[in-house]
Amino acid sequence: MANRKSSYRTVRQRLDALLQPDTDWIAVMATVACELHAAFDDFHWTGFYRVMDSKRLQVGPYQGGHGCIDIAIGRGVCGTAARQKETMRLDDVNSFPGHIACSATTMSEIVVPVMNRNGKLVAVLDVDSDRPAAFNGTDQSELEAICSWIGRGWGPA
Ligand code: SME
Repeated sequence: MANRKSSYRTVRQRLDALLQPDTDWIAVMATVACELHAAFDDFHWTGFYRVMDSKRLQVGPYQGGHGCIDIAIGRGVCGTAARQKETMRLDDVNSFPGHIACSATTMSEIVVPVMNRNGKLVAVLDVDSDRPAAFNGTDQSELEAICSWIGRGWGPA
């Protein structure tokens, strides 16, 4: 996993250099999705779902094939992570009965909640892979660190 760790280090360095204090939140999410997607061959859909209101997520900046537009909070992997405000890491998406299949080739997935500086949920980061069990504890802790950093720094009130 040394390579994966060093890829995350490179991503963090690039984001540090690219994101400025006055960077717009949408530009922040777009840049994070782009840098992560480009850094890992097994990230096949990488992007954000934004919290629209207490019931609904809507797709935000992403890389990959088209994503579902709206996801109800509490539905699917993204909606469950949003409701529980906890990371969901699935080695096999078919083992999760509520999984919303935007792509038939998705095999594994990680969804990380993004909180703003007041601890309010503003988005979730969703990464899907066509490889089974693509995400390990390193991915989880690195993606959680990135989401915590951008949420506190740029997340909308
Ligand atoms: N896999 C997600 C749906 C989002 S799209 O696949 C990009 C879910 O079950 O929440």
